[in-house]
Amino acid sequence: MPRSVKLRTALIPDTRKELVLYKHQDKFSIVIPGRGELMNSRVHGSERALAELACAAMQARSNTRLLVGGLGMGFTLAAALAQVGPDSEVIVAELVPEVVAWNRELMGEPSGHPLSDPRTQVFVGDVADLLRDCGSGFDAIMMDVDNGPAAMIRRENDWLYTDEGLLITRQALRPGGVLAVWSASADQMFQNRMRRCGFRVEAHIVRPHRAGKGARHHIWLGR
Ligand SMILES: C[S@@+](CC[C@H](N)C(=O)[O-])C[C@H]1O[C@@H](n2cnc3c(N)ncnc32)[C@H](O)[C@@H]1O
Repeated sequence: MPRSVKLRTALIPDTRKELVLYKHQDKFSIVIPGRGELMNSRVHGSERALAELACAAMQARSNTRLLVGGLGMGFTLAAALAQVGPDSEVIVAELVPEVVAWNRELMGEPSGHPLSDPRTQVFVGDVADLLRDCGSGFDAIMMDVDNGPAAMIRRENDWLYTDEGLLITRQALRPGGVLAVWSASADQMFQNRMRRCGFRVEAHIVRPHRAGKGARHHIWLGR
């Protein structure tokens, strides 16, 4: 059996935690030591579904401006680019600079190198800063910065899922815009909080594998 090869490590800003990038044959995996696997390029159905559901729900059809929170391995970004036209702009916010470099230099192939698309703009930093200073606003905001409302990467991410975070996110949406949030687990309290913050909420259960196998992931759409 071929072994996994450790390729790179990166410190997560504001924490003492590391991200470790492994390669096993042609598959990549990002692990937080002591916490578990954050991502694997083998399974990405729910990361793609996040963008597909959001883009289908947003009302704007041209000149769209989208925000993807968390680059990871680029599957949500690639799926968002596939849904929108040549006049659109997709901004991806990524906290860990090395993750952007890994996508450019090492692991861009499985997602089809979405950072090379001329419609992509990269913001290296906290997606919360982009929400607070959102320019002309977004037609869709796709959030997959962590494991969902129960943060795994950094405690500061909890803010994104609070009343205040949700209200700021709502203000960053253009009329007819949509917020889509990915989560590894069900969270009725968070769903209620979205409603309380003025969203009309739709809950989806999605499978990581296209064949409908494996764990259940959750996506909330807020209009
Ligand atoms: C689970 S991965 C995202 C997976 C992605 N949806 C995909 O298709 O590959 C989460 C990513 O969000 C990044 N991240 C975590 N907190 C963040 C924040 N506050 N702002 C921007 N990016 C963040 C992590 O470094 C990681 O790359």
